[in-house]
Amino acid sequence: MFEWLTELRAADELRAAKLVPRSTCLLHGPPGCGKTTLAHHLAARLGIPMVLIGAESVHGSAYFGESERGVRQIFDALEAAETPCVVFMDEMESWGGNRNMNRGGGADNARTSTLGVVLRKIEEFRGILLGATNRPEDIDPALWRRFGLQMSVDLPTDEERFAILARYLRPWALPDDALDVFVDVTEGASPALLRGVAEGLKRALILGPRMGRPAEELAAILRRIIVAVRPPPEILPPALWGATDAAIGELASIAWPPVRADGGDA
Ligand SMILES: Nc1ncnc2c1ncn2[C@@H]1O[C@H](COP(=O)(O)OP(=O)(O)OP(=O)(O)O)[C@@H](O)[C@H]1O
Ligand SMILES: [Mg+2]
Repeated sequence: MFEWLTELRAADELRAAKLVPRSTCLLHGPPGCGKTTLAHHLAARLGIPMVLIGAESVHGSAYFGESERGVRQIFDALEAAETPCVVFMDEMESWGGNRNMNRGGGADNARTSTLGVVLRKIEEFRGILLGATNRPEDIDPALWRRFGLQMSVDLPTDEERFAILARYLRPWALPDDALDVFVDVTEGASPALLRGVAEGLKRALILGPRMGRPAEELAAILRRIIVAVRPPPEILPPALWGATDAAIGELASIAWPPVRADGGDA
């Protein structure tokens, strides 16, 4: 992503050398791993606004031809806009589902012709365009090829989970060996899920004493959190959700409540 940012910033220089900077990128990866976040960051780094186009904006209508008209209108408006912006098309698989998966029938015909318009409009588009999907296998190959770059945004590694948990637990700080246990039992968890757990812990630390639970045990807090914050059903659940008792057993050794790094009292 950093490389692409550099490429976009050096666009004029590249053009002077007869190289066309790549202006479209498809982000793919499991839910909650940061595709939308990345698009926001890219726009912020470039200092231009981001326009989000959800798939529902064109598939809302059942009338034949309506979706294509919707796609055309959106791209016409984007081209007429005076300020440059980053265009972010979410749920790309529903804009351009794999044509091989069609089983015939009116709805499929409508989708295929919408896909045709989307393909053409992306090709003609002159600005910076990002697409995102968590079902890359459902993306039509022709649509896939329209993107100059494809980037996968994957589940976080051990080191990344460590950093994400530490960051979202702040201002509380767990000792490294305690965080390591959390890293173990959350293997396979997305950043979104880790954030949910860390924020649940912080909420309990702040609100627990006010709700008559001044010294609530970590195990009890976690049992509440994992009911409220759950991995998406289609993924293999991380140990904390899939083997809860064993995971909570491992976490029992952690000294609780943790210390607050900023010295404030809970
Ligand atoms: N690398 C990261 N570090 C810290 N937090 C992250 C990271 N990636 C994502 N998050 C957090 O996880 C949450 C979900 O991220 P985001 O919406 O970007 O995921 P997504 O890939 O777009 O998911 P979906 O496929 O469901 O649209 C956000 O609250 C974001 O702050
Ligand atoms: Mg998203």
